[in-house]
Amino acid sequence: MVSIRTEDLTKVFGEVVAVDHVNLEIKHGEFFTLLGPSGCGKTTFLRCIAGLELPEEGRIFFDDQDVTEVPPHLRNTGMVFQNYALWPHMSVFDNIAYGLKIRKVPKNEIEKRVKEVLKLVKLEGLENRTPHQLSGGQQQRVALARALVINPKVLLFDEPLSNLDAKLRVEMRAELKKLQRDLGITAIYVTHDQEEAMSISDRIAVMNRGKIMQVGTPKEIYKNPRNEFVARFIGQGTFLEGEVIGSEGNLLKVRLKTNDTEILATPSHPNLDISQGDEVLVMIRPESFTLEPKEGYNMFNVQVYHISFLGDSQMIQAVAWGEEFIIELDPDVEVKVGDKLRVYSSPWHTLALKL
Ligand SMILES: Nc1ncnc2c1ncn2[C@@H]1O[C@H](COP(=O)(O)OP(=O)(O)OP(=O)(O)O)[C@@H](O)[C@H]1O
Ligand SMILES: [Mg+2]
Repeated sequence: MVSIRTEDLTKVFGEVVAVDHVNLEIKHGEFFTLLGPSGCGKTTFLRCIAGLELPEEGRIFFDDQDVTEVPPHLRNTGMVFQNYALWPHMSVFDNIAYGLKIRKVPKNEIEKRVKEVLKLVKLEGLENRTPHQLSGGQQQRVALARALVINPKVLLFDEPLSNLDAKLRVEMRAELKKLQRDLGITAIYVTHDQEEAMSISDRIAVMNRGKIMQVGTPKEIYKNPRNEFVARFIGQGTFLEGEVIGSEGNLLKVRLKTNDTEILATPSHPNLDISQGDEVLVMIRPESFTLEPKEGYNMFNVQVYHISFLGDSQMIQAVAWGEEFIIELDPDVEVKVGDKLRVYSSPWHTLALKL
């Protein structure tokens, strides 16, 4: 188990700065996820950690050892790819054993290790099949077994579940996480799926255009986004532009652009320095709205235009002054398209971000 640290890690391809001065610290045994849109540099970052790309600038440390120039096979990382990258003509056994063979591990030791990992990923009895005789989920397990068999210090996952159907993906998530925790291996996981990231990670780094936007636990990232990119990328919300015109205690008084209404809001992150005159983006998460009647601030009269019934809740899409509202309501509330609702969002759940 190792901790991993990058200092100003930078990787450039021609005009594109794929990874732009990234400083991250990943702890021993942590399940750490890089989350961001397509092309933001996730795979490139992972390949730098594995030693498959040489950075233009910056350093990479495994514990206190500088591994920036250490070749991949000496870094002891196991990598699992989106497309599994299995050898189609080789048996499951040979696919898994490959990494040990090239490391010149004795034959009986190879047999033993492969058996162990087959058991670990629940593929016992399938060692003589070839990949095309396996389901997608089983192929994914072979790829995982192949990464695990070398006893890696670090596991690197590049969107390993994205080729599986939705149900299997959710099952495999839990399994992956449990296996990683049981083995105590430090893991870096890459995905563009925010729900997957939230469900599996100890901490998440949100990435955009090669840069880290925010690092935190899933809860922190969701509840206290530092900037507009993170706020919009993670989860759903209602977004309203406004200007800070004063304060009331710890709360900011914001005048909304769309209709000059004044509302009260809280800075979305404790480190944000927002003051009078600042342009802000107000964000309200769907579950922060309630139907309880209140007097005064933060009441919104909206008209419903779409309802998604989700079983344990219903997601209401509505408009007010041409602005889009997303409101989560109890499944028992009687509501239909065209209804007018008066909703409230408490000032402590009405978050202001600097624009
Ligand atoms: N070998 C390469 N040569 C040139 N440009 C590259 C190369 N590899 C990546 N890039 C560019 O670097 C940027 C980051 O790519 P990267 O594959 O790391 O993104 P990503 O976040 O993994 O995206 P995705 O979610 O689509 O897999 C992109 O603009 C991409 O086009
Ligand atoms: Mg990628």
